[in-house]
Amino acid sequence: MDKTKYILEEKDMPTQWYNIQADLPEPLPPLIHPATKEPTQLPPPLFVDELNKQEFSKERWIDIPEEVQDIYRQWRPTTLFRARRLEKALDTPAKIYYKFEDSSPAGSHKPNTAVAQAYYNKKAGVKRITTETGAGQWGSALAMACMYFGIECKVYMVRVSYQQKPYRRNLMEVWGAKCVASPSPDTQIGKKFYDADPNHPGSLGLAISEACEDAFAHDNTQYSLGSVLNHVLMHQTVIGLETKQLMEKIGDYPDIIIGCVGGGSNAAGMFLPFVKDKIAGKNKNLKVICVEPTGAPSITKGLLTYDYGDVAGMAPIVFMYTLGHNFVPAPIHAGGLRYHGMSPLVSHLVKLGLIEGMAVPQLATFEAGIQFARTEGYISAPETNHAIRVTIDEALKCKDEGKSKVILLAHSGHGHFDMGAYDAYLSGKLEDYTYPEAKIKEALADLPNVNLK
Ligand SMILES: Cc1ncc(COP(=O)(O)O)c(C=O)c1O
Repeated sequence: MDKTKYILEEKDMPTQWYNIQADLPEPLPPLIHPATKEPTQLPPPLFVDELNKQEFSKERWIDIPEEVQDIYRQWRPTTLFRARRLEKALDTPAKIYYKFEDSSPAGSHKPNTAVAQAYYNKKAGVKRITTETGAGQWGSALAMACMYFGIECKVYMVRVSYQQKPYRRNLMEVWGAKCVASPSPDTQIGKKFYDADPNHPGSLGLAISEACEDAFAHDNTQYSLGSVLNHVLMHQTVIGLETKQLMEKIGDYPDIIIGCVGGGSNAAGMFLPFVKDKIAGKNKNLKVICVEPTGAPSITKGLLTYDYGDVAGMAPIVFMYTLGHNFVPAPIHAGGLRYHGMSPLVSHLVKLGLIEGMAVPQLATFEAGIQFARTEGYISAPETNHAIRVTIDEALKCKDEGKSKVILLAHSGHGHFDMGAYDAYLSGKLEDYTYPEAKIKEALADLPNVNLK
């Protein structure tokens, strides 16, 4: 019998997160304070102490609190599938595996960090959390996590996604959160854009500014970020750690790891424990592909430089691949990938040549998502479809070259609330967006001047 799914016992779920900062051949460039423009380990007080500590920690392993493990067990460990039907349809000698984060209550990998962040906030006595969300996956994950810990939650949802995905908003409301379209009239920065154009499509950078402003303006309120930062990527390493255990049992090791990247958290959560081996000189040929949309191609077309994480310059300034913090990406359906920058950690690993970026256009990603659904059955999030596109392309390359490589796909979430996007694709209404060269050039002209001394 050909085995299709591999599942760990609950007792084998990781009890520690992996922090790659302990193993980097070169440390990360320092974080810059947005007010002083100087290096700092004390950024604006957006996060509670424990999360701030994790952001700069060089400890290799950090314990996952019991209370967090307890909630993880609601859906973790997640399943590792062998995509036998897809392999057969592609007639490829490649072995394709995918780790399935769709099975969390919110439908993606995002709860892995949402639960941890809500827990540390609760412990610090925080009563209210604000955040932004693109496609609504992060907002719904945080709404769910806040529900578990009895914390109030307000989500600024990028307007284009708010309109495209109304049921994601309902999901947040069911879990007790408040969700508004961004730019909103609720904050000063939001109002500036909202008054100029009440139909402004919004962007993640702008929604982050709104959520930060709200957190600064209210007592007992902290901000929470669903991607980009080191502690967020570290919380996601449960994905890769589980996968590594399972692959050891199977007796396979990936030749290629593929994940989609918005801020980089699900892909990094998968590849960091494997990149640890690569840094240690083992499995040196491991190829890691971070897939981004051609509509927001930060790694492949951006600059590696210091930039703000948000439009208003309230979030810390980080060294990353960026398209400029004023860049507003085209309204692609993969709302979670519409970010102007890339995680500093992912950017650093690209610079060190340990991983690479690749950009794919929207239509090709839906074509791949449909092929996946028509073979494996599962309907994937538009973000995930980016990774599926490259997985299929790599498997076809194996066929051409007659090579049986092991391909590991980070399957970040389901697309059950994205049927509007599938409808647009199936009815021929979906379009590709050309590379927005002029807009990126304009946005890159407005980078902060940092003082590194
Ligand atoms: C299903 C899914 N995959 C991927 C992403 C991209 O985020 P990240 O790069 O942090 O994994 C998102 C973001 O919202 C998402 O919802």
